[in-house]
Amino acid sequence: MTTSPIFERLAALAEPIRVRLLRVLAHDELAVGEIARVLQTSQPTVSRHLKQLDAGGWVLRRKVGTATYFRLSLPDLDEDARALWALVLTDIDAASGEPASQYAEDLRRLEGVVAARAADSEELFRRLGGRWDDVRADLFGGGFVFATLAALLPAGARIVDLGCGTGALLPILAAGDTTVIGIDREAAMLEVAGHRTADLPNVTLKAGLLDDLPLEYDSVDLAVCQLVLHHVKELGPVFAEVARVLAQGGRWVLVDMVEHDREEYSATMGHQHLGFSEATIRALTSEAGLWLRSWRVLPVDPGAQGPGLFVAVISGG
Ligand SMILES: C[S@@+](CC[C@H](N)C(=O)[O-])C[C@H]1O[C@@H](n2cnc3c(N)ncnc32)[C@H](O)[C@@H]1O
Repeated sequence: MTTSPIFERLAALAEPIRVRLLRVLAHDELAVGEIARVLQTSQPTVSRHLKQLDAGGWVLRRKVGTATYFRLSLPDLDEDARALWALVLTDIDAASGEPASQYAEDLRRLEGVVAARAADSEELFRRLGGRWDDVRADLFGGGFVFATLAALLPAGARIVDLGCGTGALLPILAAGDTTVIGIDREAAMLEVAGHRTADLPNVTLKAGLLDDLPLEYDSVDLAVCQLVLHHVKELGPVFAEVARVLAQGGRWVLVDMVEHDREEYSATMGHQHLGFSEATIRALTSEAGLWLRSWRVLPVDPGAQGPGLFVAVISGG
């Protein structure tokens, strides 16, 4: 004789300890040892009841390394199971109002177990696994990682952002012990950059052209030029200018598009070049007496719609 699923569900919830177990799992995801502490029973007893609940589809399990965590996820239950659970909870919640009730004690012990877990960072990070990125973003945002990396910049470095635009890079470059100059030909761009860097005493903005830089000979330790070069028709004079201003041991970090076939960019965005090949950049650097130290095609951001990018690191000859 086949039994209706309702009898299996009733059987699963027929033991008070299984109901208590499910109730704490509805509050928090727990490991077997933690459930045993909350319910004040042995781990084998918890495992036995979990097995039965698992077979009935009442619990979700998540494996992280060698540990397994269990929880009750109401949205993942079918409608009948949710209705049955709601009925059981109504009864329990009435009983939980009594301070001495078993159910109220379960939740008090659960608080203690969760607090102890939070104090144990090894356990915390094992549990978080891949979710740490979200937790970090919630707690601290995303911008500070740039400041972390900016601390790697050499102390006292004189930095220039060539074609700084609205100055997105400037606060990052200025987060270290550095002096930073942003140069751009467009007053409207410099105005936005000015607002962005108003509180940064180590940032100066200058109007100027890449092929006639408003900078002294030998005055730059690090030049950055991001997504600008494709706008400049004659590239030789730009490379010659960078060679002039780079100090001994200085570096030029150049980011732009790799070669592509989006010809419409010339008409819609005034692009003078359809990206660059490594050979082109190498030829331009050596003509200017510079040295292409490295060339790397950057990983593609999954949400990006534009062509691929490269980063080239160039130094004085
Ligand atoms: C696409 S935006 C990039 C801005 C910024 N580097 C970034 O990554 O967000 C290009 C910028 O280069 C500037 N620019 C283009 N040609 C230039 C030139 N010959 N001299 C100086 N700035 C130039 C433009 O005014 C614009 O602000």
